[in-house]
Amino acid sequence: MIENIFYKRSFLSVDDFSRKEVELIYQIAKKMPGKDPMHPQTDFLKGKVVSLAFFEPSTRTRMSFEIAQKYLGGGVVNVGDLNSTSIKKGESLDDTLRIMGGYTNSIIIRTTDENLCYNARELLPDIPIINAGNGSDEHPTQALLDLWTIKNKVGSLDNLTVGIIGDLKYGRTTHSLAKMLNKFENNTIYLFSPKGLEMPEKYKSSNCIVKRLSDLSEVVSELDVLYATRIQKERISNGEDYSYRIDKEMMNLAKEDMILMHPLPRIDEIPISIDLDKRAAYFEQARGGLVIRQALLYSLLRKRIIL
Ligand code: NCD
Repeated sequence: MIENIFYKRSFLSVDDFSRKEVELIYQIAKKMPGKDPMHPQTDFLKGKVVSLAFFEPSTRTRMSFEIAQKYLGGGVVNVGDLNSTSIKKGESLDDTLRIMGGYTNSIIIRTTDENLCYNARELLPDIPIINAGNGSDEHPTQALLDLWTIKNKVGSLDNLTVGIIGDLKYGRTTHSLAKMLNKFENNTIYLFSPKGLEMPEKYKSSNCIVKRLSDLSEVVSELDVLYATRIQKERISNGEDYSYRIDKEMMNLAKEDMILMHPLPRIDEIPISIDLDKRAAYFEQARGGLVIRQALLYSLLRKRIIL
């Protein structure tokens, strides 16, 4: 048992954890049960209940947080959509958050409102708040599991050449990923986006090189990781078609040991025929969300941890 440096902290942005802390989460993840049939449940989080406040659609993030909590012996309360709460009667969101904080040990929030999770941290300084996606800003727990996948599949988090492609303006996973890669040494990040969907400056660092979508075929052979994302149609109102595709010809130009990642859901940017390519890592990536979210919940909710 060791004293836990994460106890009762919130995780709203990848800025909240240092490189050392990210590495510590990965050490803790190795001790987590995942979905191991030999250890179907532990009591690591017995008596701890978290609120899942998901006000935007979600499959992987909500399910993996809920299942993570259950495999650790804890409980969850699904807040449901706002129309099924007293917000519908005119209650303020602040009051609703205070109630959630009074009943449960942590609040995991997904909203279109970029500020809500920051507001919740101010209101409830003793309750860990986890950002599960705040509009088109960040998705820090996704970046944690993305780097976990890279570490396991590529073997290092330093000296990487990574391509990030798709909607880099509204795609929050790409913002957290670019910032997270920047915590490590000597990573080069190529950013490929349609014109008009470039990554905002505040997420970029000096190791980011901006390219056009059509430049991918020239650069793909250099990449250790290609991270594709969908166009965030629900956040775009001009009706333009920004779609793109990673096809077999593109994969033929890539290294034998490159990995192709995607936070999912994919729409048509990666055809299903690519799923058979051994470099397609996106389903394994999504599975990694379970141990990473177990490690995170365990770290934020337990005063002492076993390493
Ligand atoms: C992402 C999200 O919600 O930002 N999904 C996820 O959590 N894996 C990606 C997306 O919606 O495009």
